[in-house]
Amino acid sequence: MPEPRVALVTGAAGGIGRASALALAEAGWDVALADVREAAGAAEAVRVLGRRALAMALDVTSKAGVEAVVARILAEFGRVDALVNVAGVVGFGSAAEMPEAEWDRVLAVNLKGTFLACQAVIPAMRAQGGGRIVNIGSIIGKNGGNARPWLDRAEQQRSGSAAYGVSKAGVHALTFFLAKELAADNIAVNAVAPGPIASAMTTTFPDALKALIPVGRMGTAEEVARVVAFLAAPETGFVTGEIVDVNGGMWMD
Ligand SMILES: NC(=O)c1ccc[n+]([C@@H]2O[C@H](COP(=O)([O-])OP(=O)(O)OC[C@H]3O[C@@H](n4cnc5c(N)ncnc54)[C@H](O)[C@@H]3O)[C@@H](O)[C@H]2O)c1
Repeated sequence: MPEPRVALVTGAAGGIGRASALALAEAGWDVALADVREAAGAAEAVRVLGRRALAMALDVTSKAGVEAVVARILAEFGRVDALVNVAGVVGFGSAAEMPEAEWDRVLAVNLKGTFLACQAVIPAMRAQGGGRIVNIGSIIGKNGGNARPWLDRAEQQRSGSAAYGVSKAGVHALTFFLAKELAADNIAVNAVAPGPIASAMTTTFPDALKALIPVGRMGTAEEVARVVAFLAAPETGFVTGEIVDVNGGMWMD
Protein backbone atom coordinates (compact mmCIF):
# COMPACT_ATOMS: atom_id res chain seq x y z
CA MET A 1 0.00 0.00 0.00
CA PRO A 2 1.59 3.26 -1.04
CA GLU A 3 1.37 6.29 1.26
CA PRO A 4 -0.89 7.98 2.09
CA ARG A 5 -3.13 5.03 2.85
CA VAL A 6 -6.89 5.62 2.80
CA ALA A 7 -9.48 3.96 5.07
CA LEU A 8 -13.28 4.02 5.06
CA VAL A 9 -14.79 3.70 8.54
CA THR A 10 -18.56 3.19 8.79
CA GLY A 11 -20.36 4.05 12.02
CA ALA A 12 -17.64 6.67 12.47
CA ALA A 13 -19.80 9.01 14.55
CA GLY A 14 -20.10 6.38 17.29
CA GLY A 15 -17.73 5.36 20.07
CA ILE A 16 -15.77 2.54 18.42
CA GLY A 17 -15.99 4.09 14.93
CA ARG A 18 -14.58 7.44 16.00
CA ALA A 19 -11.83 5.75 18.05
CA SER A 20 -10.96 3.55 15.04
CA ALA A 21 -10.75 6.58 12.75
CA LEU A 22 -8.42 8.30 15.20
CA ALA A 23 -6.23 5.20 15.70
CA LEU A 24 -5.85 4.92 11.93
CA ALA A 25 -5.07 8.63 11.63
CA GLU A 26 -2.41 8.28 14.32
CA ALA A 27 -0.93 5.44 12.24
CA GLY A 28 -0.73 7.73 9.21
CA TRP A 29 -3.98 6.93 7.40
CA ASP A 30 -6.31 9.41 5.71
CA VAL A 31 -9.87 8.55 6.72
CA ALA A 32 -13.32 8.70 5.14
CA LEU A 33 -15.94 8.70 7.90
CA ALA A 34 -19.47 7.52 7.09
CA ASP A 35 -22.50 7.33 9.37
CA VAL A 36 -26.25 7.93 9.41
CA ARG A 37 -25.44 10.50 12.08
CA GLU A 38 -23.25 13.57 11.62
CA ALA A 39 -19.58 12.53 11.60
CA ALA A 40 -18.11 16.02 11.12
CA GLY A 41 -16.79 16.13 14.69
CA ALA A 42 -14.86 12.90 14.27
CA ALA A 43 -13.57 14.11 10.90
CA GLU A 44 -12.29 17.31 12.50
CA ALA A 45 -10.49 15.23 15.15
CA VAL A 46 -8.76 13.30 12.34
CA ARG A 47 -7.65 16.59 10.73
CA VAL A 48 -6.24 17.76 14.07
CA LEU A 49 -3.93 14.75 13.84
CA GLY A 50 -2.68 16.04 10.49
CA ARG A 51 -4.51 13.62 8.21
CA ARG A 52 -7.09 14.23 5.49
CA ALA A 53 -10.70 13.42 6.43
CA LEU A 54 -13.95 13.20 4.53
CA ALA A 55 -17.26 12.97 6.44
CA MET A 56 -20.20 11.51 4.55
CA ALA A 57 -23.81 10.62 5.31
CA LEU A 58 -24.45 6.92 4.77
CA ASP A 59 -27.10 4.36 5.56
CA VAL A 60 -25.24 1.06 5.17
CA THR A 61 -28.46 -0.79 4.34
CA SER A 62 -28.49 0.98 0.96
CA LYS A 63 -26.45 -0.68 -1.80
CA ALA A 64 -26.58 2.52 -3.86
CA GLY A 65 -25.52 4.49 -0.79
CA VAL A 66 -22.37 2.49 -0.06
CA GLU A 67 -21.46 2.45 -3.74
CA ALA A 68 -21.80 6.25 -3.90
CA VAL A 69 -19.60 6.65 -0.81
CA VAL A 70 -16.86 4.45 -2.28
CA ALA A 71 -17.08 6.33 -5.61
CA ARG A 72 -16.63 9.64 -3.80
CA ILE A 73 -13.61 8.33 -1.86
CA LEU A 74 -12.02 7.17 -5.12
CA ALA A 75 -12.76 10.58 -6.68
CA GLU A 76 -11.30 12.54 -3.75
CA PHE A 77 -8.50 10.28 -2.51
CA GLY A 78 -7.84 8.03 -5.53
CA ARG A 79 -7.84 4.74 -3.58
CA VAL A 80 -9.34 2.81 -0.67
CA ASP A 81 -6.90 0.59 1.24
CA ALA A 82 -9.02 -0.44 4.19
CA LEU A 83 -12.69 -0.79 5.06
CA VAL A 84 -13.63 -0.86 8.74
CA ASN A 85 -17.25 -1.94 9.21
CA VAL A 86 -18.33 -0.47 12.54
CA ALA A 87 -21.91 0.67 11.80
CA GLY A 88 -24.32 -1.30 13.94
CA VAL A 89 -27.45 -1.20 16.03
CA VAL A 90 -28.32 -2.99 19.22
CA GLY A 91 -31.45 -5.13 19.26
CA PHE A 92 -33.64 -6.57 21.96
CA GLY A 93 -35.85 -9.61 22.36
CA SER A 94 -35.58 -13.36 22.68
CA ALA A 95 -35.35 -15.57 19.59
CA ALA A 96 -38.58 -17.26 20.62
CA GLU A 97 -40.65 -14.11 20.86
CA MET A 98 -39.14 -11.06 19.17
CA PRO A 99 -41.22 -9.37 16.46
CA GLU A 100 -40.26 -10.13 12.87
CA ALA A 101 -39.68 -6.42 12.23
CA GLU A 102 -37.04 -6.26 14.97
CA TRP A 103 -35.21 -9.25 13.46
CA ASP A 104 -35.24 -7.59 10.01
CA ARG A 105 -34.09 -4.20 11.36
CA VAL A 106 -31.05 -5.59 13.18
CA LEU A 107 -30.00 -8.04 10.45
CA ALA A 108 -30.34 -5.29 7.82
CA VAL A 109 -27.84 -2.95 9.46
CA ASN A 110 -25.40 -5.29 11.19
CA LEU A 111 -25.14 -8.11 8.63
CA LYS A 112 -26.45 -6.89 5.28
CA GLY A 113 -24.84 -3.47 5.77
CA THR A 114 -21.47 -5.11 6.39
CA PHE A 115 -21.96 -7.35 3.34
CA LEU A 116 -22.89 -4.41 1.09
CA ALA A 117 -19.94 -2.30 2.20
CA CYS A 118 -17.55 -5.21 1.59
CA GLN A 119 -18.94 -5.75 -1.90
CA ALA A 120 -18.60 -2.03 -2.66
CA VAL A 121 -14.85 -1.83 -1.91
CA ILE A 122 -13.68 -5.16 -3.35
CA PRO A 123 -13.41 -4.06 -7.03
CA ALA A 124 -11.23 -1.06 -6.10
CA MET A 125 -9.05 -3.12 -3.75
CA ARG A 126 -8.57 -5.81 -6.40
CA ALA A 127 -7.70 -3.18 -9.03
CA GLN A 128 -5.09 -1.55 -6.80
CA GLY A 129 -3.47 -4.84 -5.79
CA GLY A 130 -4.76 -5.42 -2.26
CA GLY A 131 -6.43 -4.06 0.84
CA ARG A 132 -7.75 -4.82 4.30
CA ILE A 133 -11.27 -5.36 5.64
CA VAL A 134 -11.91 -5.25 9.38
CA ASN A 135 -15.41 -6.11 10.59
CA ILE A 136 -16.78 -5.55 14.07
CA GLY A 137 -18.41 -8.70 15.40
CA SER A 138 -19.28 -9.38 19.02
CA ILE A 139 -18.86 -11.72 21.95
CA ILE A 140 -22.65 -12.16 21.62
CA GLY A 141 -22.11 -13.74 18.22
CA LYS A 142 -20.18 -16.53 19.94
CA ASN A 143 -21.68 -17.20 23.34
CA GLY A 144 -25.45 -17.32 22.81
CA GLY A 145 -25.88 -14.12 24.82
CA ASN A 146 -24.96 -13.06 28.32
CA ALA A 147 -27.35 -14.99 30.53
CA ARG A 148 -29.18 -12.94 33.16
CA PRO A 149 -30.74 -15.58 35.42
CA TRP A 150 -31.52 -12.98 38.09
CA LEU A 151 -34.21 -11.45 35.83
CA ASP A 152 -37.76 -12.73 35.73
CA ARG A 153 -38.87 -14.51 32.56
CA ALA A 154 -40.61 -11.52 30.96
CA GLU A 155 -37.64 -9.24 31.58
CA GLN A 156 -35.25 -11.88 30.20
CA GLN A 157 -37.24 -11.89 26.97
CA ARG A 158 -37.23 -8.10 26.71
CA SER A 159 -33.49 -7.85 27.37
CA GLY A 160 -32.48 -10.75 25.13
CA SER A 161 -30.35 -9.96 22.11
CA ALA A 162 -30.91 -12.88 19.74
CA ALA A 163 -31.12 -10.94 16.46
CA TYR A 164 -28.04 -8.96 17.44
CA GLY A 165 -26.09 -12.12 18.26
CA VAL A 166 -27.18 -13.85 15.07
CA SER A 167 -26.22 -10.78 13.02
CA LYS A 168 -22.75 -10.76 14.57
CA ALA A 169 -22.30 -14.52 14.09
CA GLY A 170 -23.15 -13.81 10.46
CA VAL A 171 -20.49 -11.11 10.38
CA HIS A 172 -17.97 -13.65 11.71
CA ALA A 173 -18.96 -16.17 9.01
CA LEU A 174 -18.86 -13.50 6.30
CA THR A 175 -15.34 -12.68 7.51
CA PHE A 176 -14.29 -16.33 7.03
CA PHE A 177 -15.79 -16.58 3.55
CA LEU A 178 -14.34 -13.29 2.31
CA ALA A 179 -10.93 -14.11 3.81
CA LYS A 180 -10.72 -17.26 1.69
CA GLU A 181 -12.25 -15.70 -1.42
CA LEU A 182 -9.94 -12.68 -1.33
CA ALA A 183 -6.70 -14.21 -0.03
CA ALA A 184 -5.17 -14.47 -3.49
CA ASP A 185 -6.01 -10.80 -4.09
CA ASN A 186 -3.87 -9.69 -1.11
CA ILE A 187 -7.01 -8.56 0.70
CA ALA A 188 -6.91 -9.69 4.34
CA VAL A 189 -10.30 -9.92 6.05
CA ASN A 190 -10.58 -10.11 9.83
CA ALA A 191 -12.98 -9.20 12.60
CA VAL A 192 -12.78 -7.87 16.12
CA ALA A 193 -15.26 -9.35 18.60
CA PRO A 194 -15.64 -6.88 21.49
CA GLY A 195 -17.13 -7.74 24.83
CA PRO A 196 -18.90 -4.98 26.77
CA ILE A 197 -17.41 -1.63 25.68
CA ALA A 198 -18.45 1.65 27.31
CA SER A 199 -20.30 3.55 24.56
CA ALA A 200 -23.71 4.94 23.62
CA MET A 201 -24.76 1.36 22.91
CA THR A 202 -24.16 0.13 26.47
CA THR A 203 -25.36 2.94 28.74
CA THR A 204 -27.96 0.58 30.26
CA PHE A 205 -25.52 -2.33 30.73
CA PRO A 206 -26.40 -3.71 34.18
CA ASP A 207 -23.92 -3.71 37.08
CA ALA A 208 -24.66 -7.40 37.69
CA LEU A 209 -23.29 -8.16 34.21
CA LYS A 210 -20.29 -5.87 34.64
CA ALA A 211 -19.40 -7.95 37.70
CA LEU A 212 -18.99 -10.99 35.42
CA ILE A 213 -16.13 -9.40 33.44
CA PRO A 214 -12.89 -10.95 34.75
CA VAL A 215 -10.79 -7.76 34.36
CA GLY A 216 -13.39 -5.99 36.51
CA ARG A 217 -14.43 -3.21 34.13
CA MET A 218 -15.93 -2.53 30.72
CA GLY A 219 -13.58 -2.06 27.80
CA THR A 220 -12.87 1.21 26.05
CA ALA A 221 -13.42 2.09 22.41
CA GLU A 222 -9.69 2.83 22.17
CA GLU A 223 -8.85 -0.76 23.18
CA VAL A 224 -10.95 -2.02 20.25
CA ALA A 225 -9.49 0.62 17.92
CA ARG A 226 -5.91 -0.50 18.62
CA VAL A 227 -6.76 -3.96 17.31
CA VAL A 228 -8.58 -2.47 14.30
CA ALA A 229 -5.47 -0.46 13.38
CA PHE A 230 -3.27 -3.55 13.83
CA LEU A 231 -5.46 -5.61 11.48
CA ALA A 232 -5.58 -2.80 8.89
CA ALA A 233 -1.81 -2.41 8.79
CA PRO A 234 0.04 -3.41 5.61
CA GLU A 235 2.49 -5.42 7.76
CA THR A 236 -0.15 -7.86 9.07
CA GLY A 237 -1.41 -9.27 5.78
CA PHE A 238 -0.69 -12.90 6.76
CA VAL A 239 -3.37 -12.56 9.47
CA THR A 240 -6.64 -13.31 7.70
CA GLY A 241 -9.92 -15.00 8.63
CA GLU A 242 -9.28 -14.26 12.32
CA ILE A 243 -11.83 -13.12 14.92
CA VAL A 244 -9.91 -11.26 17.62
CA ASP A 245 -11.59 -11.18 21.04
CA VAL A 246 -11.38 -7.91 23.00
CA ASN A 247 -13.56 -8.86 25.96
CA GLY A 248 -11.67 -8.64 29.25
CA GLY A 249 -11.66 -12.42 29.60
CA MET A 250 -15.46 -12.73 29.55
CA TRP A 251 -15.44 -15.39 26.83
CA MET A 252 -12.60 -17.57 25.53
CA ASP A 253 -12.63 -19.92 22.57
N1 LIG B 1 -20.33 -1.24 22.73
C1 LIG B 1 -20.23 -2.56 22.87
O1 LIG B 1 -20.24 -3.09 23.97
C2 LIG B 1 -20.06 -3.43 21.66
C3 LIG B 1 -19.75 -4.77 21.87
C4 LIG B 1 -19.59 -5.61 20.77
C5 LIG B 1 -19.75 -5.08 19.50
N2 LIG B 1 -20.07 -3.77 19.32
C6 LIG B 1 -20.23 -3.29 17.96
O2 LIG B 1 -19.35 -2.22 17.72
C7 LIG B 1 -19.92 -1.36 16.74
C8 LIG B 1 -19.90 0.07 17.25
O3 LIG B 1 -20.65 0.17 18.41
P1 LIG B 1 -20.48 1.36 19.46
O4 LIG B 1 -20.37 0.75 20.79
O5 LIG B 1 -19.44 2.32 19.01
O6 LIG B 1 -21.95 2.01 19.38
P2 LIG B 1 -22.42 3.42 18.84
O7 LIG B 1 -23.89 3.38 18.93
O8 LIG B 1 -21.68 4.51 19.53
O9 LIG B 1 -21.95 3.42 17.29
C9 LIG B 1 -22.67 2.81 16.25
C10 LIG B 1 -22.70 3.78 15.08
O10 LIG B 1 -23.31 3.14 13.96
C11 LIG B 1 -24.13 4.10 13.33
N3 LIG B 1 -25.17 3.47 12.53
C12 LIG B 1 -26.28 2.82 12.97
N4 LIG B 1 -27.03 2.41 11.95
C13 LIG B 1 -26.37 2.79 10.81
C14 LIG B 1 -26.65 2.66 9.43
N5 LIG B 1 -27.78 2.06 9.00
N6 LIG B 1 -25.76 3.17 8.54
C15 LIG B 1 -24.65 3.82 8.97
N7 LIG B 1 -24.34 3.97 10.28
C16 LIG B 1 -25.20 3.48 11.19
C17 LIG B 1 -24.71 4.92 14.47
O11 LIG B 1 -25.21 6.17 14.02
C18 LIG B 1 -23.52 5.03 15.41
O12 LIG B 1 -22.76 6.20 15.18
C19 LIG B 1 -21.32 -1.90 16.44
O13 LIG B 1 -21.28 -2.72 15.27
C20 LIG B 1 -21.61 -2.75 17.65
O14 LIG B 1 -22.52 -3.77 17.36
C21 LIG B 1 -20.22 -2.93 20.37
